[in-house]
Amino acid sequence: MKKMLWMTALSAGAVVVATNAYAGSNVDPETDRKQLVEFLMAKAPKVPFEDYRLGAYIYSADKRSQYEAVNEFPPYLDHIDAGEALWEKDKAIYEKCFGSDVSKIRPKYPYFDDDRGEVITLELAINECRKNAGLKPFKWAKGDIAKLSAYLAYNARGQKINVSINSEGAKKAYNAGRDLFTKPRGQLNLSCAKCHAYNPGRRARANTLSPALGHTTHFPVYRAKWSDLGTLHRRYNGCMKNMRWDPKTVGGPQSVAFRNLEFFEAYLSNGLEIDGPDYRE
Ligand code: HEC
Repeated sequence: MKKMLWMTALSAGAVVVATNAYAGSNVDPETDRKQLVEFLMAKAPKVPFEDYRLGAYIYSADKRSQYEAVNEFPPYLDHIDAGEALWEKDKAIYEKCFGSDVSKIRPKYPYFDDDRGEVITLELAINECRKNAGLKPFKWAKGDIAKLSAYLAYNARGQKINVSINSEGAKKAYNAGRDLFTKPRGQLNLSCAKCHAYNPGRRARANTLSPALGHTTHFPVYRAKWSDLGTLHRRYNGCMKNMRWDPKTVGGPQSVAFRNLEFFEAYLSNGLEIDGPDYRE
């Protein structure tokens, strides 16, 4: 059998991946995606592919039923309504940027814009739209940006993530995101991959670790810990801080580095249903 990149990394220890990644990876995204999906699914053979939108809840029947109970009266319903009110308030402006069908917006993001040579996320597009129309951009990570994003995600529920990579630029962005994900960083010398590729299903203190597959499906998320709604980049911030790695060193939410990371994780999650907003502990 041909050796798989992610599996080689595991059997030889994460150090190998780190060494590869330091040289800067230049992998074929589709081969890489398939291998990582296969690798993650082999760890939990009973979990069907479509369940990966549920994050760490796939690994525990108890946690999953608690999660399902919370979702009977989801704590994010008011946020969706608030997002709708924000849309209605500046509707004419948003419709010029995004069109009038609110179910068709979220599935377009993130994408690689070849003319600009960078990844465009939904939140970036929202704020650019506002700025170009003379409105004040929202703050990144939480508040109105998360509410509007929640409203657009809600209207796109059930559609599948379908990120395409058709150019050298897009391939580079994927590889840059992948490098950020696999390189050990911060004072603890941890990588995202260590927790979310090699050890999903295992526990880190009180938490069970989620797989990277499905990380982007359900954002923005209402977290019990935040008692609030936050974007995917707010979550990235949190994990980086836990790694004792200051997110500002790569630019923080909506920087090129964060957008590449989102692009990598979103491409990896191709074929999974959009399920935002959602609840997490
Ligand atoms: C020491 C282990 C560890 C490292 C390293 C780590 N995380 Fe996490 N991460 C967690 C834990 C614990 C949670 C909460 C449980 C879960 O959902 O995995 C979490 C949650 C997440 C979530 C939310 C998952 C969901 O279902 O909503 C995302 C996204 C995420 N991490 C991304 C990253 C990224 C990107 C990096 C690297 C910059 C990273 N993490 C590094 C431990 C880690």
